[in-house]
Amino acid sequence: MSKLHVVDHPLIAHKLSIMRNKKTGSKDFRELLNEIAMLMGYELTRDLPLEKITIDTPVERTQAYTISGKKLAIVPILRAGIGMVDGLLDLVPVAKVGHIGLYRDPETHLPVTYYCKLPSDIDRRIVILVDPMLATGGSASDALTKLKEHGCTHIKFMCLVAAPEGVAKVQADHPDVDIFTAALDERLNDHAYIVPGLGDAGDRIFGTL
Ligand code: PRP
Ligand code: URA
Repeated sequence: MSKLHVVDHPLIAHKLSIMRNKKTGSKDFRELLNEIAMLMGYELTRDLPLEKITIDTPVERTQAYTISGKKLAIVPILRAGIGMVDGLLDLVPVAKVGHIGLYRDPETHLPVTYYCKLPSDIDRRIVILVDPMLATGGSASDALTKLKEHGCTHIKFMCLVAAPEGVAKVQADHPDVDIFTAALDERLNDHAYIVPGLGDAGDRIFGTL
């Protein structure tokens, strides 16, 4: 079974509360989303392996540490996942970025894939799949399947708000993928929206309400 990490830092909780408020406009919503992505990225990259190196400081030769092992790739699920990319790139500027395009059919709530463009060496990278909303889990699960079809074996999923139903689906379909979220909300409503949630993340980021 994969692990669910609820990243419950006070700064994240505070920023998320502002985002949940329906009066918060797109500019602030976008900025806060990227800030939270960076703060969560700090936690998500905690287990990156280090190797010892020798460096010469202006004072003397010393042993220091540098990140070793696989390089990173960030993969947002379009559209809303784009809102978390810059925050993560601030943290890991050399990461490559792939894109998976999915939207939820408004009637069935099932994901429909329309785009996939990934770095050619994605199978050799640690992949952080990002999407602010984990509702039914259909979109995240399909995106994870697509990444595995491209050979990815080391994937983490990062979202902002998760519903218990979405967590259960991703854990059932992808027990090897840990989930990182800023909040675990109560449930889904009849339209498969997260309650209390924050509404339609893509619309709030891009002002398409
Ligand atoms: C939203 C969200 C996720 C998906 C979550 O995207 O960004 O991708 O819904 O729902 P699920 O867990 O039930 O699959 P949406 O389909 O609204 O597309 P958009 O990002 O283009 O607005
Ligand atoms: N997608 C969103 O953007 N919000 C929800 O609450 C559910 C799916």
